[in-house]
Amino acid sequence: MKIIFFSAKPYDKLFFNRFNESHGFEIEYHETHLGPHIVNIVENAEAVCVFVNDKLTAPVIDTLAAKGVTIIALRCAGFNNVDLEAAKQHGIAVCRVPAYSPEAVAEHAVAMLQTINRKTHKAYNRVREQNFALKGLLGFNLHGKTVGVIGTGKIGKAFANIMLGFGCKVLAYDLFPDSSLKEKGIEYLPLEELLKSSDIISLHCPLTKDNHYLVNGTTLELMKPGVVIINTSRGGLINTADIIEGLKSKQVGALCIDVYEQEEKLFFRDLSSNIIDDDNIKRLMSFPNVLITAHQAFFTEEALSEIAQVTLDSIARLNQQNMPEGDVVMLT
Ligand code: NAI
Repeated sequence: MKIIFFSAKPYDKLFFNRFNESHGFEIEYHETHLGPHIVNIVENAEAVCVFVNDKLTAPVIDTLAAKGVTIIALRCAGFNNVDLEAAKQHGIAVCRVPAYSPEAVAEHAVAMLQTINRKTHKAYNRVREQNFALKGLLGFNLHGKTVGVIGTGKIGKAFANIMLGFGCKVLAYDLFPDSSLKEKGIEYLPLEELLKSSDIISLHCPLTKDNHYLVNGTTLELMKPGVVIINTSRGGLINTADIIEGLKSKQVGALCIDVYEQEEKLFFRDLSSNIIDDDNIKRLMSFPNVLITAHQAFFTEEALSEIAQVTLDSIARLNQQNMPEGDVVMLT
């Protein structure tokens, strides 16, 4: 069986080749992302394996179906980039990796928060230049702060638990509250109440039609002045133009983003010699209280091992006749 990979990086090859030893699939890696410009190179493959910024629109899926592809394997959790209805119409199975070390993402959110708060990135550079002054490095204690967690699934739950460990008061908003978090004293509130009461807000819900631009000019107005916002979920949850205004007016005290709404043109590439044709990200990069990482929250040994193993196991099971139900996390 042949699988064609898109958006494949050297680390993908390393981990997938390692776990493919027990499967023996024929794998063809492409570094470019999947979209209408490249879909025609798919030949003689039963499966494609894609990542967060591959665009599986209906026309792309029509072409994949015409070329005999029967499996789309997402080597990520989010699936907002796939037209599931189109896949269903063609009988294409779509599977994903629903939980690859949720702690990896939750811990990165905390790392970003503490970097922007305690300014360790600045301290590191200062000390290397023998500047041992503390001016400009003032932070705040997390202990006693109110943290609002939007989306308390696997990652949000891990993040909430870490924040409890810091001695924070944790508030939550989710369409389906988690009883184990309630038992730990976490209070579920309507979204508006959470926004009004939190010193720090962390986004851990998926991007859906209903919550696009959840953080916008109107919701920013509801938040506490100086609020710290963390987004490790999906860029489309934040209206970038509005948050830039929020930063300029100081309504937003700090912003940590691992995702960005136009990230597919930027992230996962070395553009250090290029002219960046995106004024919003350049403006965000200019603020001293904004920390941007390029979708690296998942990037741990543990998570990459799990992604490779689960993805290849799912493809193997989908490829077998009489696949036991519930064995593979299916989206179609
Ligand atoms: P999950 O499916 O376990 O949890 C998502 C939670 O959000 C669920 O409890 C759900 O009820 C809730 N939810 C859905 N719509 C909501 C809404 N409109 N408002 C509030 N809550 C809502 O997902 P998991 O594994 O925790 O991942 C969350 C998101 O994190 C993913 O959808 C993905 O976008 C992002 N992610 C980012 C990574 C990174 O490297 N930056 C890596 C992995 C995931």
